[in-house]
Amino acid sequence: RVLGASKNGDGGFRLEEKEEHHVKISDFPKGFIFGAASSSYQVEGGYIEDAKSLSNWDVFCHSVGCGKNRENGDVADYHYHLFLKDIEIMHSLGLKAYRFSISWARILPRGKFGEVNIAGIMFYDKIINNLILKGIEPFVTINHYDFPQELEDRFGSWLNGEMQEHFVHLADTCFKYFGDRVKYWATINEPNLFTNFAYKWGIYPPSRCSKFYGNCHTGNSEVEPLIVMHNMLLAHGKAVELYRQKYKLKQAGLLGIVVNCHTFIPLTESLLDIEAAKRAVLDPLIYGEYPLEMLKYIGSDLPSFSIKEKKIVKNSLDFIGINHYSSFYVKDCTNSTCSPIANRPIQGFLDIVVERDGVLIGEPTGMEDTYVVPNGMEKIVNQIKFRYKNKPMFITENGYSSPDLQEKRVNVVLNDVKRVQFHLEYLEFLAKSIRKGADVRGYFIWSLMDSYEWLTGYNLKFGLYYVDRLTLTRIPKLSARWYKSFLIENTTDL
Ligand code: NOJ
Repeated sequence: RVLGASKNGDGGFRLEEKEEHHVKISDFPKGFIFGAASSSYQVEGGYIEDAKSLSNWDVFCHSVGCGKNRENGDVADYHYHLFLKDIEIMHSLGLKAYRFSISWARILPRGKFGEVNIAGIMFYDKIINNLILKGIEPFVTINHYDFPQELEDRFGSWLNGEMQEHFVHLADTCFKYFGDRVKYWATINEPNLFTNFAYKWGIYPPSRCSKFYGNCHTGNSEVEPLIVMHNMLLAHGKAVELYRQKYKLKQAGLLGIVVNCHTFIPLTESLLDIEAAKRAVLDPLIYGEYPLEMLKYIGSDLPSFSIKEKKIVKNSLDFIGINHYSSFYVKDCTNSTCSPIANRPIQGFLDIVVERDGVLIGEPTGMEDTYVVPNGMEKIVNQIKFRYKNKPMFITENGYSSPDLQEKRVNVVLNDVKRVQFHLEYLEFLAKSIRKGADVRGYFIWSLMDSYEWLTGYNLKFGLYYVDRLTLTRIPKLSARWYKSFLIENTTDL
């Protein structure tokens, strides 16, 4: 399918389709929430304003510099000061919801060791109030990778069970100050990706890696990612328990977690590959246990939940947040030779590959190992639907970045036909899964505007809006105009 944008008679754009795209907003259930997403470190800037403390990411990016250009989020999109303008933009697009995260270091600069920073609370109050004024639902992630550096320095953050109590304190603070208006809470963003990136491959702070990966000298343990994951699951469970006991009756909100969900497709039709693809999934939050497959491959290194803890994590989700971008092929390694890395137990004895018979799984994007595979959307939603008994789901992120990271011509960046095509195709498969009964309740585009990307800096662009790095002006791309016509006019014409 080829899609291009061209001028139509009245000066607007029209998408030319070689094959018909039929997806329309009317293909989605009434009340389905369409939105866009961001996270604090990636958009806010204002990194030491109004008594905010330094976060783990501030310190990390200041010391090593993030990405090839050694950038950081000190200024980012300056959303800390331009948020009103951004909310205006959201309104003009017709967004029904905005997913954003709370900067822990802004509202609790010293975690539980210090006081609430009222200036930080006021900032999020203003965001929430202005969103509501414009009819936009605030969808809040309590923690999206960043936390006060002091928690790292004093007790080793997520490697230490103490972090659970700090997280619960953060969640309690959010419920207390914002819960009267926020009805959707995602506790933690992508704990599964975070543990690997920060404690296995050592590429996110605190840069610890297992002995089988990378060259870093800290960590050096296969067990650390498991401990971190365990602490995050318990932190989530305890925050939800607190909400249900202390706030639910009055505030009536829904709580979930956001998971990075690739679609895993067995490389071949062999039973072994099919089983290997299943091993790529985690499920204690529903069933209160790690999957048996994990126990089988990880053995006694796998932490276990006490009876009391099982109760805490079990059924601790009102919804599942799915960040979906891409798909992989999965190859079993219990019975065949794989890469030495894959043969480690923690990996579940499987290899992840992106090619079959010399053909790539999809068109490459700007993110490493991320390809455009639209039908992966239907597959992941179906997998989660069946495994978790059709628990309500939100697509909390889905987005496209162009592979050409060096493109400097603004008019080319603005004419993002491929991004429009990406969303249309992924949405088509999402609509299909919903038609077949999946309880998906919302879809958030990553991202509202180009922002700071963790390891790549500002070159990797996901936004519906381009942000001029010198003036910080937000300029709508073709995709912004497409989203608006999709949302407001129920059409794909631009
Ligand atoms: C998922 C993360 O939640 C988000 O912060 C990131 O920018 C996107 N993926 C793209 O890498």
